[in-house]
Amino acid sequence: MTVQPARAHDGLRFPDLADPRTFIDTDLPALWRELRAASPVHWNPPAEDRPGFWAVSRYEDVLAVYKDNKRFTSEQGNVLSTLLQGGDSAGGKMLAVTDGVRHRETRKLMQKSFSPRVLEHVGQLVRRRTRQLIAEVVARPEADFATDVADHIPINTIGDLMDIPVADRGKLVDWNNRTLSRYDEGDSQLDEWLARNEILLYFGELARRRRESPGDDVVSALATGLVDGEPLSEDEIIFNCYSLVLGADESSRMSSIGALIAFIEHPDQWRALKNGEVSIADATEEVLRWTTPAMHFGRRAVEDVVLRDELIRAGDVVTLWNSAANFDEDAFPDAHRFDLGRKPNRHVAFGHGPHFCIGAFLGRAHVSAVLEALRDQVAGIELRGEPRRLYSNFVYGYQGLPVALTAER
Ligand code: HEM
Repeated sequence: MTVQPARAHDGLRFPDLADPRTFIDTDLPALWRELRAASPVHWNPPAEDRPGFWAVSRYEDVLAVYKDNKRFTSEQGNVLSTLLQGGDSAGGKMLAVTDGVRHRETRKLMQKSFSPRVLEHVGQLVRRRTRQLIAEVVARPEADFATDVADHIPINTIGDLMDIPVADRGKLVDWNNRTLSRYDEGDSQLDEWLARNEILLYFGELARRRRESPGDDVVSALATGLVDGEPLSEDEIIFNCYSLVLGADESSRMSSIGALIAFIEHPDQWRALKNGEVSIADATEEVLRWTTPAMHFGRRAVEDVVLRDELIRAGDVVTLWNSAANFDEDAFPDAHRFDLGRKPNRHVAFGHGPHFCIGAFLGRAHVSAVLEALRDQVAGIELRGEPRRLYSNFVYGYQGLPVALTAER
């Protein structure tokens, strides 16, 4: 059984990039190719329930906007769902949607909890946990790689860094799934808000407990640390905890699940990994480029800017399509070849510039751990059912992947 190809994109009219259905039933490589060639700074027109926005798809332009946080702000949201609603309630409080000095200082405070010593330890734990999960799965005739393996890795890593009780981690994954992506079309916006609310309430309570008795986890660092000589506000602590779980969990899971699908579709690369022809570090970068779980991030223009002859007006929403930029032939020769040995591989899966992913080390550790465990413990991969896609205009990936993994002798 192979993964079903999506419906071909006809090239006559660009589909709506705000509509999650676009990412389910369009031939995305063809869409990105045409956007980059014909309309690299593309105006996605308004719809009844939302304003229009720009979509930038070439690698070079995506880098330029990411770098320019003077003319393009994140403070009014950094993903379509918030930008199109006119703002993000966490703006100026949560790292990803804060700019300027406050962003720099808060980032420094959070980075202290990610020292090389801590991360080395976390890297060992994630490798051990992943080996264990894969061992359990190869012992069974069939499993779901998404729910039985990938779902358990990042939440436990970030859970360790934040010292979140193990019993609470499952419900955080579930709430997380409902916030920026939905399980399916039937899930409502209300469901999304309720889940987001549950996460915020949860961290409010956890932060209160850590203020009273701090440990050496990142929640305690946020709850007791100083920025500009002052403690962070309650909102800042809660929003930043939320953003760590959000950032850590979904994207990493989607890369690992996507890696397995890529191996099913590219047996030559699976063999290259198995035979040790490629390093885990290089393979990790290619999996991140190939899967690009965070399809877009976005900004709002602070002043009029001309980009490739298009006038972006102050106040306009500008989205940066990582999933298009990572397949730009000008930056990645033979971009549509899944090539684990690709070098150089300066993908933008983690963004670029001042908001470059603060968890990139962990994201890489998750993917490397999965690749290493697959290489060492799995002899063969067989698809046993239709992979189930996430319904989202932001996260690309799969929430279900029935497979049979046979054990390496
Ligand atoms: C920022 C992707 C893993 C936490 C970002 C950005 C991208 C990204 C593209 C830039 C956002 C922007 O420019 O607006 C990914 C991918 C991951 C991953 C693909 C895994 C494969 C993680 C992990 C954590 C994390 C493990 C938590 C430890 C964050 C945070 C930011 C961020 C807090 C905001 C940084 C800032 O604004 O300074 N991530 N991420 N991410 N990520 Fe990740």
